[in-house]
Amino acid sequence: MSEEWVRIAAPATTSNIGAGFDTFGLAMSEPCDIIEGRKIDSGFVITEVSGPGSDNIPTDPKVNSVSIAAAQVLKRCDAEFGIELRIKKGIRPCSGMGSSGASAAGGAFLANIMCEEKLNSTQMILCAAHAEDVISGGLHADNVSPCILGGFTVIRSYEPFDVVRIEPPRNLGMVVALPDLMVATSDARKVLPREVSVRDLVFHVGNASTLVYGMMTGDLKAIGRSVKDAVFEPARTKLVPHLKEAEKEAVSAGALVSFMGGSGPCIMSFYDADTDLGAAIAERVKAVYTDNGMGCDTWITKPGVGCKRI
Ligand code: HSE
Repeated sequence: MSEEWVRIAAPATTSNIGAGFDTFGLAMSEPCDIIEGRKIDSGFVITEVSGPGSDNIPTDPKVNSVSIAAAQVLKRCDAEFGIELRIKKGIRPCSGMGSSGASAAGGAFLANIMCEEKLNSTQMILCAAHAEDVISGGLHADNVSPCILGGFTVIRSYEPFDVVRIEPPRNLGMVVALPDLMVATSDARKVLPREVSVRDLVFHVGNASTLVYGMMTGDLKAIGRSVKDAVFEPARTKLVPHLKEAEKEAVSAGALVSFMGGSGPCIMSFYDADTDLGAAIAERVKAVYTDNGMGCDTWITKPGVGCKRI
C-alpha cells in the first residue's frame, strides 16, 4: 500500500445569497480546511482533527463529514483500500461559512484523487451532499457544489441532480464577519416555514434571476440590488443577535449588500473590489459585536476556484 499523503485545500462557501435558498452557492478563496489522507488496507481512521471548533468534530468515521463523503466515493469506485485522514479545520463549524460542506467536499475530492479521478464533478458533489444530508439534517448541495466546482453555482434541480457553474465577476469583493456564536444548520432549518406565498415566490424568482444576470455580466449593482430574501433570512433573524444592525453598518460603510451567510450566524457583505478595500466594512460589522461584548472574526476575501490539491 502507498504511504503517500494527499493534501487538499477545501474552501469556505456562502450559500442561499438572498433568494437562492438551497440553490445558489459561491466559493471563497479563503479560509480553507486542509484535509490530508493516505491509503490504508481498509476502513477509515481519523488520526487528527485540529483547528477552530475541532473539539466538537467527531473522530468516529461513521459520523464525520470527511469520511462519510470519502466512503461514498470509494464505494462508487469499488476501491479496495481504506483511508487514514488528518483534518485541519480553517472554517469553524456552525458558522454559516460551509464548514461541513468544505469537509464533505474535501473528503470526496481527496478520495477521488486516490481513486485515479474515476468520478466526475457531479458524482463527487453527490457523494459530498450525502454527507451533508447525514450531518446537517437535510439534503442540500449548495455549499458542496461551489466547493467542488469553484465560482458561483446554481442547482437547477435536485432530482435529477443538475448544477451549473458561472464565473463570478473578478471584482466582486467579499467580507465575512463571524460573531462568536454557533448556529447549527439542523437547528436553523427547524425554524423555516413549510410553505411560501405566491407573492414571495414571485419576489424570489425576480431577484434570483437578476442575481444570476449580475453574476454572468459582472453587473455589481444588479448583484447588490437582487440579494433579497423574503422568506428564509426573516425566519432566521432571531437566531443571530444584531444581524440587521450589522447589515446596515456594512452598507453604510460601502457594501453593495449585506446578508446572512448560509444558515448563519456569519454576515456576508459584497463590495466593489475595484473601488474599495473592504476594510471599513469589516471594521464596522465587527464593531457592532464588540460594542455588545461579543467577539467577531472577519475575513476580506473574493470568489475562489474550489477544492484543489496542494
Ligand atoms: N441552504 C442551507 C440552509 C445552507 O440555509 O439551510 C446551510 O449552510
